[in-house]
Amino acid sequence: MANIFSYSIGRKLLMSLSGLFLVMFLLVHLLVNSFLILDPLFGTTEGVMYNAGVHFMTTNPLIKIMEPVLAGGFIVHIVYSIILTIQNMRARGSKTYASGNKTPDVEWSSKNMFVLGIALLSFLVIHIAQFWVKMKITGDPRLDDTVEGHNAYVLVHETFQITWVMICYVVGGIALAFHLSHGFWSAFHTVGLSNSVWIPRLQKVSVVIAWIIGLGFSTIALVQYLVFPLS
Ligand code: HEM
Repeated sequence: MANIFSYSIGRKLLMSLSGLFLVMFLLVHLLVNSFLILDPLFGTTEGVMYNAGVHFMTTNPLIKIMEPVLAGGFIVHIVYSIILTIQNMRARGSKTYASGNKTPDVEWSSKNMFVLGIALLSFLVIHIAQFWVKMKITGDPRLDDTVEGHNAYVLVHETFQITWVMICYVVGGIALAFHLSHGFWSAFHTVGLSNSVWIPRLQKVSVVIAWIIGLGFSTIALVQYLVFPLS
């Protein structure tokens, strides 16, 4: 019997499950990074809360175990999105008018999921190089290497003082919001948790969660750039 994941529905299922897993990660990641704004609001200077949050995330054994799982989630999601897009293009052939960009009643994000995904992947490459690589592999003079995750605040804050970086994060957050506003409810639909009553509800919830996550990241970057210059 052929493997279920060699079928289109199996591939879509894998994409949906990995996508839902990545949304969980994004919610936790947003929570930790919101300390960048909460720190000055609570009067804790020099990123005390943020450094503690990053320290916990980089040293907690349970989270360390989850790191390869997270990397796997990204790889599965990206690889299967490429396979499914190629499959769909082949299946449509020359009949692109049937579901192509000119279809008026299909939401914009739904028609541009792959393009949005490519934009997010480019963002992710820059993001990982700027923070993860420096914190885990190469080190950086701004980090206190004696305590893992310590002084992440200085590195992150200084990085956001660069105008193109800030723009990249604001645009990345908006692309993420569009990507999730379709992807989130579509994933539930694929795993079978929807019907004619639940689809419209899930669509509304998806849009709200997507924009909270996307604009959350954009706002953090913008606020760091505009409001909290390091003394
Ligand atoms: C204001 C925006 C953001 C800030 C300040 C931020 C900050 C960081 C920092 C400091 C790290 C390295 C430390 C760590 O591993 O926890 C990191 C890792 C990471 N970030 Fe972000 N991030 C932001 C947005 C995003 C977005 C939008 C995504 C996904 C689309 C993302 C995905 C990741 C991934 C996959 C890792 C590596 C996995 C990990 O070790 O947790 N980040 N981020």
